[in-house]
Amino acid sequence: MSWLFAQLYERGSRKQKTGPIDGWRHELLAQAAGEVVEIGAGNGLNLKHYTDAVTRLVLTEPNQHMRAHLRTRLQVPDGAEVELSEGYAEAIPLPDNSVDTVVSTLVLCSVKSQAAALAEAQRVLRPGGRFLFLEHVGADDPGKALLQRVMKPLCGIFADGCNPTRNTLGAMEAAGFEIEGLQRSQMPGLSGRFAPTIQGSAKVLDR
Ligand SMILES: C[S@@+](CC[C@H](N)C(=O)[O-])C[C@H]1O[C@@H](n2cnc3c(N)ncnc32)[C@H](O)[C@@H]1O
Repeated sequence: MSWLFAQLYERGSRKQKTGPIDGWRHELLAQAAGEVVEIGAGNGLNLKHYTDAVTRLVLTEPNQHMRAHLRTRLQVPDGAEVELSEGYAEAIPLPDNSVDTVVSTLVLCSVKSQAAALAEAQRVLRPGGRFLFLEHVGADDPGKALLQRVMKPLCGIFADGCNPTRNTLGAMEAAGFEIEGLQRSQMPGLSGRFAPTIQGSAKVLDR
């Protein structure tokens, strides 16, 4: 199903390129600086938002069909080094304390283990580094939460393992991140009413 998801996501990206999510991406990625790793980079919708503050950009994406689309969007800030890797978020192919920013947009819903992915983000971040996130999360509202549970098997099949019910903020806090500048919204469109989003920056508590 990874091929089908890559095709559907690429098709759906036409709307994302100009809709509110594009604005959220822009605001979030303005904070990315220095050496950056983006986990689950997908088909590259974040790329146009990186600024000259980025000196090195490592894009990890395990789905080969997504990577094919990503290659068509490989536009990066002048002077920045860019590398593309097939790594999973649970095993980021970088040394400890080697990046200033980790970026995760619409990925923590899909990783096999949020705890492992977040531990990896902490491992590769230098002291003072930032984890920038934009994620759709489980709803607090009981009606929406019920619908998310009903939708979960379908999302798993057609969105390549996406689980709409996750308490991603709780997982970040449990992993030892301190959340800063949290913004809440919801995905656009009709189905978006059932998909609350969180966006912000997190730093690793003292280690
Ligand atoms: C909904 S797409 C989001 C893509 C992109 N980050 C964006 O904002 O448009 C989810 C992405 O997460 C990737 N993914 C799924 N499991 C992953 C994992 N364990 N590690 C890294 N990426 C993963 C998928 O291949 C897919 O590209």
